[in-house]
Amino acid sequence: MAGCVLAIDQGTTSSRAIVFDADFKPVSTGQQEFPQHFPKSGWVEHVPADIWTSTLRVCREAMEKAPDGGAGVAAIGITNQRETTLVWDRSTGEPVYNAIVWQDRRTAEFCAKLRAQGHEETFTKKTGLLLDPYFSGTKISWILENVPGARDRAERGELVFGTVDAWLIWQLTEGEVHAVDATNASRTLIFNIHHNDWDEELCGLLGIPMSMLPEVKDSADDFGVAKSDLFGREIPILGVAGDQQAATVGQACFKPGMVKSTYGTGCFALMNTGDTPVLSKNRMLTTVAYRINGKSTYALEGSIFVAGAAVQWLRDGLGLIESASDTQDLAEEADPHQDVYLVPAFVGLGAPYWDAEARGAMFGLTRNTGPKEIARAVLQSVGFQTSDLIRAMQSDWSDAEKPVLRVDGGMTASDWTMQFLADILGAPVDRPTVAETTALGAAWLAGFKAGIWPGPEEFSSKWQLDKRFEPHMEDGARTDLLSGWQDAVQRTRSGEQ
Ligand code: G3P
Repeated sequence: MAGCVLAIDQGTTSSRAIVFDADFKPVSTGQQEFPQHFPKSGWVEHVPADIWTSTLRVCREAMEKAPDGGAGVAAIGITNQRETTLVWDRSTGEPVYNAIVWQDRRTAEFCAKLRAQGHEETFTKKTGLLLDPYFSGTKISWILENVPGARDRAERGELVFGTVDAWLIWQLTEGEVHAVDATNASRTLIFNIHHNDWDEELCGLLGIPMSMLPEVKDSADDFGVAKSDLFGREIPILGVAGDQQAATVGQACFKPGMVKSTYGTGCFALMNTGDTPVLSKNRMLTTVAYRINGKSTYALEGSIFVAGAAVQWLRDGLGLIESASDTQDLAEEADPHQDVYLVPAFVGLGAPYWDAEARGAMFGLTRNTGPKEIARAVLQSVGFQTSDLIRAMQSDWSDAEKPVLRVDGGMTASDWTMQFLADILGAPVDRPTVAETTALGAAWLAGFKAGIWPGPEEFSSKWQLDKRFEPHMEDGARTDLLSGWQDAVQRTRSGEQ
């Protein structure tokens, strides 16, 4: 089985590894969940050793389960939860603190202070991001300020920073390589996406010594070799991208105007804008979609924090369903005459509102409202939120006129939800046959760099449609639903943002 690639997908709640064969088909997988730590309200941490040991274990499992025992694996690709921040000792490899996870809100006050000092525009212009605790920069500052001795050690050049890709590369190469790829760098709040380099002024504003920063490489690049004691032989690491960017690649969204949306715990929509970093007027993010041969391709991104998590809430919080797949059955039977809206602002609202203080609310309840109407409101909230993102992208960028949305992630298994999405967008929604688009994207970057997999065009031609959902809803009905949703969102907002 020559021409295989091992893809590592290190996510927020679990580590996964998949071996893909030369036809881009998954042949074996390994998966392991690891503990989440919530030391205080709004704080989320991972133990760095858990990230690494779970990753190593699933890699070995996937290799062993491959028909040839992994002998045909020629390269490794890495994709990862983005923004999550680690700081460790350059000589011992010992982390000075837990990984601070992207969901962590502990630096909200620091962000507000920087905003009040008038710095947001500088950050946004250079990085394409907003002053929000979501991104890595203020998390690095927090570690340097709060871990005893960390600032002095960092200033002496003893500490290094990395996102999760850098941490895994460091472990796989046993401390030989300290590098990130450009997509992960573009989520840190200190990477200038126009100059393609770390930004001295922004590092200064956040008090981050530049000696801590990893080398920034292309997404398809030489990241060193995984050492032979790990897998019995050396394997080169040749592809790296943040998970949402990897899904963009895995969905073959290589042309400007192409857009994908991934439905996991949250939802992340990325639209390829080619070599133009479109700066949003609607609080969308500008990000690096991938960097190949030194050339950055950019994307507009909309991040929603609650999508599949709302279905989990139906199951674990309300006990209305036994398994996620029951939701669609209930929704199908909901009373068409009841307009019930759920705004799932359980952890605030993400794009395009960025209202950290908002909390979830339900509107339109009557004595006749029951589990069916609530289930429908949950699934519809995913469609409404996606529609907010796509409409914001359309108003930011004239080339985004008529997008076809490529979807992936757990929720896309629900035909009902995908049909509603197409209806509310008024645009087609395409679900591919390969569900593992994130891992596939990382695998393609590595296979392409290794010279064993074809270039973007041939890879795109292999992208296969499982089902297209065409919009059927009348314009009037869509307008009414969207105005009901907007009304519900306005009533939910905190007024704090
Ligand atoms: O930006 C956060 C995102 O990368 C997390 O993705 O799939 O690990 O929840 P996931």
